[in-house]
Amino acid sequence: MFELIKSLTQTYGPSGNEKKVAEKIKNLLKGKVDETRTDAMGNLICVKKGSGKKIMFAAHMDEIGIIVTYIDENGFLRFGNVGGLPQLIIMGQRVRFENGTVGVIWYEENIDNMKNATLEKMYIDIGASSREEAEKMVKVGDMGIFVGETVLQNGKIISKALDDRLGCAILVETALRNVETDNEIYYVFTTQEEVGLRGAKTAAFGIVPDMALALDVCDTGDTPNCKPMSVKMGKGPTVKIKDRSVISHPEVKDRLIRAAEKANIPYQLEVSLYGGTDAGSIHITAGGIPSGGISIPTRFIHDASEMADMNDVENAVRLLCEFIKG
Ligand code: CO
Ligand code: ZN
Repeated sequence: MFELIKSLTQTYGPSGNEKKVAEKIKNLLKGKVDETRTDAMGNLICVKKGSGKKIMFAAHMDEIGIIVTYIDENGFLRFGNVGGLPQLIIMGQRVRFENGTVGVIWYEENIDNMKNATLEKMYIDIGASSREEAEKMVKVGDMGIFVGETVLQNGKIISKALDDRLGCAILVETALRNVETDNEIYYVFTTQEEVGLRGAKTAAFGIVPDMALALDVCDTGDTPNCKPMSVKMGKGPTVKIKDRSVISHPEVKDRLIRAAEKANIPYQLEVSLYGGTDAGSIHITAGGIPSGGISIPTRFIHDASEMADMNDVENAVRLLCEFIKG
């Protein structure tokens, strides 16, 4: 499964530009599902037909990044954020544009306190010496993503974009395992989650499932002096109780816990005070959709080097397979 994760995390796909990720997933699931469609928002919807309940699983294809707002006369790029960019950790990071151009994020050197180093005080250096030269490489409106190799070390994955290519990989793997069921399963790879859970909204409206789960990452409470949280990396995927965008439907939450206990799958209860997931827009679509989520405990979310445990990923696939059977 590591190769699948590596391939998905290294694919270019900032919000609104998820096409390459969608293509890759479509190819992986070719002939393995009964129907594949793409809606106007770019969501990739793969259906395994059935006569029972309509169950929707959502994982977002987009990743955070930067967008070029202005190119100065010396060829330096000014930029804004695409999704939540933690300003204090992006300095010195490399970004890559869709055409392969690489730039380095740096800051105006007259900043006396790094707390004042807002995005407006930063720039991207692509090594161009004039606006004309820079414009041959990058244009205003182009989006860049973090550069961050995908490494497997001692059972842990370190990579850019684990948020949420891990969720995508889990859905792909679950679909490939092809669990026997009467239920109709919608594997939905959504767009524009990082800018406001947007793709999932239209996807859910188009399907109106009986229940839905968002597959995503969540914070952990196991690093030095971090905020107290009971979730730990490596102790199992989480059953979401709430995040900032949703309070899980009790029946969905209970069905997940039942599934985990029946199959002896380790799990943790997740109460996230920060961050939202696709479940946040799915559950208030149409007349309301019972929703919940499974998350992979992940350290350093939205950094170029996020970290998660492969066992949690494998156990999330097992949990999803059990959930499908109901
Ligand atoms: Co995110
Ligand atoms: Zn996410």
